[in-house]
Amino acid sequence: MADRIYHPNAELAKSAHCKSFDEYKKMHEESIKNPEIFWGEIAKQFYWETPSSNDKFFSYNFDITKGDIFVKWMEGASTNISFNLLDKNVKCGNGDKIAFYWEGNDPEDYSRLTYRKLLEETCRFANVLKSKGIQKGDRVAIYMPMILELPVAMLACTRIGAVHSVVFAGYSSDSLAERMLDSKAKILITADGVWRGEKQLNLKKICDDAMDKTKLHNHEIDTCIVVSHLRRLANPQGKSTTDKNQNGINGTSNGKNCELNISWNDERDYWWHEEMEDADTSCYPVWVNAEDPLFILYTSGSTGKPKGVLHTTAGYLIYAATTFKYVFDYKQNDVYWCTADIGWITGHTYVVYGPLANSGTSVLFEGTPFYPDNDRYWSVIDKYKVSQFYTAPTAIRSLMKFGDEFVKKHDLSSLKVLGSVGEPINPEAWLWFYNLVGHGKCSIADTFWQTETGGHVITPLPGATPMKPGSATFPFFGVLPELLDEDGKLIEGEGEGYLVFRQPWPGMMRSLYNNHERFQTTYFDRFHGYYCTGDGARRDADGYLWVTGRIDDMLNVSGHLMSTAEVESVLAEHPFCSEAAVVSKPHPVKGQCLYCFVTPNDGNVFDKKMQDELKKLVRERIGPFAQPDIIQHAPGLPKTRSGKIMRRVLRKIALGDKNVGDTSTLADETIVDLLFQLRPQQA
Ligand code: WT7
Repeated sequence: MADRIYHPNAELAKSAHCKSFDEYKKMHEESIKNPEIFWGEIAKQFYWETPSSNDKFFSYNFDITKGDIFVKWMEGASTNISFNLLDKNVKCGNGDKIAFYWEGNDPEDYSRLTYRKLLEETCRFANVLKSKGIQKGDRVAIYMPMILELPVAMLACTRIGAVHSVVFAGYSSDSLAERMLDSKAKILITADGVWRGEKQLNLKKICDDAMDKTKLHNHEIDTCIVVSHLRRLANPQGKSTTDKNQNGINGTSNGKNCELNISWNDERDYWWHEEMEDADTSCYPVWVNAEDPLFILYTSGSTGKPKGVLHTTAGYLIYAATTFKYVFDYKQNDVYWCTADIGWITGHTYVVYGPLANSGTSVLFEGTPFYPDNDRYWSVIDKYKVSQFYTAPTAIRSLMKFGDEFVKKHDLSSLKVLGSVGEPINPEAWLWFYNLVGHGKCSIADTFWQTETGGHVITPLPGATPMKPGSATFPFFGVLPELLDEDGKLIEGEGEGYLVFRQPWPGMMRSLYNNHERFQTTYFDRFHGYYCTGDGARRDADGYLWVTGRIDDMLNVSGHLMSTAEVESVLAEHPFCSEAAVVSKPHPVKGQCLYCFVTPNDGNVFDKKMQDELKKLVRERIGPFAQPDIIQHAPGLPKTRSGKIMRRVLRKIALGDKNVGDTSTLADETIVDLLFQLRPQQA
C-alpha cells in the first residue's frame, strides 16, 4: 500500500509554479550545476542596497581536512529583511493586503493585520528597541505566545540589525535562562500570560525566574518588555488602557475573566503598549551584510547542552522565500496556515519569513487542536478558507483518534496542499490526511528538514512530484543528498545509510553561536566533505528517499527534538537517583516517547511517589513536552566492562522484546533478565 504512487491533481499541476516532474528535474539539475545563476536569478526579486559581485556570490568549504568549514552566499551584498518583507509590499500596492489573521485560543478572540499596519508596528517597536539601547548585532531574547506582537518583535530586530533568539514559550525558566546566558541576551520580550485550551499560563513569572537565574551567573537582563495580552482579552475593545486598539491591532475579544498575579520590577519591566504609545511609526532600516547574523535558534544537542543554531541574512531570505513558493505552491489569493509555534524553526521560516517574503496571507493561531472541541483545526480551515495547511504527524495521529465525524462537519473544499513536518509520517496517517482531509485531491508535502537546514531540503512539489505515502521523496533545489555507509562509502542506487549533503544550499546554518568548533565536530567530522544530518534514510528502487529517523542519541517526541542525555542529567540531579539511562520508545501518537531507567541511591524506595516526582522534575527543568512516559526501576544498568551503558539492550527492554542480541561484552549479564522482570505493567 505504501508503495502505491499518488499523482498530483492534474488541475493543480496546470497552474502550479512547477508543473511536472520533468520540469522539477531540469530545475534541480540547473540548481546543482550552476548555483550562482539559479539563485542569482531568484535574488533579483529582492532589494539589495549594495548588489553582490558575481565572483563572491557563493563560496564554501565542506571538508574539515582542508581547513575551517564555512558557507557564504552573496558576500558583500547588503540588504534589510524587514524592508524586503514589508516596505516593498506596501510600495507595490499590497499595503491593504492581510499579512496575518490572528485566531485566538478562544474562537471569539480574533484580529487581523495588514502589511501597512505590520510595517508601522514593526517600525514603532524597532524605535522602542533603539530607545532601550539595542544596536546592530545585539541579541534580543523573545519568549512569547502566538500573538501578533511576536512577528512584530522579530521583524523589529531585523529592522535595526539586532539578532533575535526566540525561545519557545513552553520551555521552563531553567531552559530560558540557559539560552539567554549562552546568547548573552541584552533584553527579554514576553507577555503577561496566555491561554492554552482551558489552562492559563503565567509567562511573566517564568521570565522573572529565568532572569533571577541568569543574574546568579553574573548576566543581568536589565530590560524586560511585557505585552499585556491576557488583560486586553479580559477587557474587550476600548474599555481598558491595555486594549488591543492601543496597539493599533484591531480585534474582538470575548472578555473572559482573567486574574493573573504578576510581579513587577519598576526598574526593569516595561509594558509594551506604554512604550509603543509615543514611538514613531517610521524607522529607517539598518542595511546589513548578506552574511550578518539574522537569528539564533536553539536546538537539542546529543551532549545535552543546547546548540545555538546561527542563520544569516541573504541566503536564509532567498531560501525561505523559494521553498515557501514552490513547496506550498503559494498563489496571491491563497490563505495559508502553518500550525507550528513560532518558537520552533518551522514557525520562523514558514509562519514569519517565507510567507511574508511572498506577500502571503496567513493564519496565526494561538490555541490547540482540541479546544473548544476536537474539530478546531477543521473549523479554522473552514472559517478562513485555508488553501495550504501545514501541520505535524503527531497532530494528525491525535486527531484521527476522535473519528471522522469531526472532519466531515466542516467544508474543507478550499484546501489545495497539505503539509507535514517534524518526523516521518506513517502511511496510515498520510492516507487519512490525503483521503479524509484532502478529499483525495490535495497534494501532500512531506517536508524533511531541520533547524540547521533553515528550510525544506527533501520534499515533493505539489504540482510535480508523484507521491508515496511516508516518503519525503526528492531534494529541493540546491540540495544534493547522498547516503553513506558506516565507513563513509557512497551507497548508490537502492540502500540505506547515513543521510548527508554534499554541497551547501543558501538557507543552511553557518555556525553554532560562539562555538564554531562544536559546529564543525557535530556536523562535519563524521564524514569529511559532507554535512551530516544525524538521520538515517533509505533509497528505494525508484530513487525515493525515506527518512528512517535519528541515528544518534536524539529522539523526537511529538515533533520536539530532544536528547536522551539532557533528560538523564536532569534525573541524575535528584537526590533519590544514583544513575539514570534514558531511551526512546515508539509511541502511537507522539511518534516516540521517553522511557527512563532509574537506579535509586542506597536506602531509597522506588515507588509511585518517586516516579511522579521524577516526572515532575523533568517537566520543570525542560518543559511539559519532555515529561517521560515510563520511569522504570533499575537496580543496575547493563554496562560493558569499560562502563559504557549498552543502550541498544535498554531499547529492547523498553519494547519488551527478548531478542536483545549479543550481551557477552556486558560486565554482568544477569541484569538484563532482572530488568525484564521489573518492566512495569503499563509499559
Ligand atoms: C529532525 C529535526 C524541521 C522542522 C521540525 C523539526 C526529524 C523533521 C521530518 C520528516 C522524517 C523528519 C528529523 C530531523 N524530521 N521532518 N518530514 N520526515 N523526519 O526540526 O527540531 O530541528 O528536528 O526532525 O529527525 O533531523 P528539528
